[in-house]
Amino acid sequence: MPDSASSIKESSSHQSPTNQPENTSAREQWSSRMVFILAATGSAVGLGNIWKFPYITGENGGGAFVLVYLLCIASIGVPIMMAEVMLGRRGRNDPVTTMKKLARESGHSRAWGLLGWMGVIAGFLILSYYSVIAGWAMAYVPFMASGTFNGLDAAGVNTVFSDLVSHPETLIFWHTSFLFLTMLVVARGVRGGLEKAVTYLMPLLFALLIILIFYAIDTGAFQKGVAYLFTPDFSKLTTEGILSAMGHAFFTLSLGMGAIMVYGSYLPAKTSIAKASFAVAFMDTMVALMAGLIIFPIVFANSLEPSAGPGLIFKTLPLAFGQMDYGALFGTLFFILLVFAAWTSSISLIEPAITWGMKTFQISRVKMAVFAGIFVWLSGLLTVFSFNLTSDLTITSTISTQYGEFVILKNATAFDFLDYLTSNIMLPLGGLMIAIYAGWLMKKEYSRDELDISRAMYALWLFLVRFIAPLMVVVVFLNAMGVVAFIRTIMGV
Ligand code: TRP
Repeated sequence: MPDSASSIKESSSHQSPTNQPENTSAREQWSSRMVFILAATGSAVGLGNIWKFPYITGENGGGAFVLVYLLCIASIGVPIMMAEVMLGRRGRNDPVTTMKKLARESGHSRAWGLLGWMGVIAGFLILSYYSVIAGWAMAYVPFMASGTFNGLDAAGVNTVFSDLVSHPETLIFWHTSFLFLTMLVVARGVRGGLEKAVTYLMPLLFALLIILIFYAIDTGAFQKGVAYLFTPDFSKLTTEGILSAMGHAFFTLSLGMGAIMVYGSYLPAKTSIAKASFAVAFMDTMVALMAGLIIFPIVFANSLEPSAGPGLIFKTLPLAFGQMDYGALFGTLFFILLVFAAWTSSISLIEPAITWGMKTFQISRVKMAVFAGIFVWLSGLLTVFSFNLTSDLTITSTISTQYGEFVILKNATAFDFLDYLTSNIMLPLGGLMIAIYAGWLMKKEYSRDELDISRAMYALWLFLVRFIAPLMVVVVFLNAMGVVAFIRTIMGV
């Protein structure tokens, strides 16, 4: 099995693109470009789109939240994605080494390596809960296949879900299975297999989503769902909601922690970073919106609560599958595809830690995968127990200022806490630093050279990463007072 990604890496780091005659055939170039787009799309499209986007939209009241989210994707997500891919391609290394190397190249402090570090930790923490949720999706495959949901009403479906999450041993079983799958791919370093998986499975996922949209139209509440998603009601928008929307823009595009930087490091020199970034962001957004268009009509048709939280898709989709013809078949297929989508994402969450660890500890990929796997598995238990044994163990964090009381976290379980810390704080912070580095510190001749876009486009990009993206991140941060209050809560002051 050829390891296409690492062979790309090898050919690009050992030879300059101009002296590799056998590699310049059109087919080779095309295949390499596709590898990146596929891998990056595989990383972007995952639980974030199908599980997280609908439930946080529901928790934040719909339309206005979606609008802020879309604005964040366009004005922060795409430019920062271009920046992150660019840094990766120029550094051609793990995130820590890349940042140190680039900082040296432009005459800045090695402390920039810390950015890579934060990414390694963030990916680690995200994977710990990502794997548990992906485990839920895995558990639903046999449920679907055995017809558990056939003809069940909303209350019945609800019971199946609560039953699942109230059993830690079952969750641990699925968490272990999913993590094993992830680490298996990571340990083998095979992106060739993944490439195939994404090529065939992504279109299939699209097709299934379209079938489900037809079902959603059929529920009779489609209009209501569309209105919920696309009619902004700003009275429902809180500062917390704005922070979540921004955090989710980073999460869904896999930005801010070095994952896309590592993928960018495999990118051939000639590929257009701008086009690839647009393509990835577009597909990712389409999948999220389609998921929303499916879930909310089902929610309204069955008088369910849009704000049901992390269980939302697990309580709504089975209703749809339980009622449609061949529902068991489609349902089984759907959850298998969801697991695949999560799989291709989880690999990118841990890849920065793997490449960094191999180099730092001078150990093999397999060993590092085993180490990382054990740590992630253990950390995942925190999330497993958040839904049962320790569900009452919550923290509430507020900050009082002269402007009033800000609630940062309300009855947050360990899972909520991890999600908040990573998506709402670490990823935007990482993104902010990437934007500042690429926009202000990196020599313009380097970034212009790497991006290789028209003058006008370059000017627009530079404006976005220099001013708009950092400003938005900072304003949102300050507004939510998240960081300050969060640190205060942790330190107990
Ligand atoms: N984007 C993925 C999703 O939507 C999750 C993910 C994969 C991610 N790699 C990442 C999030 C890196 C942040 C950073 O499910």
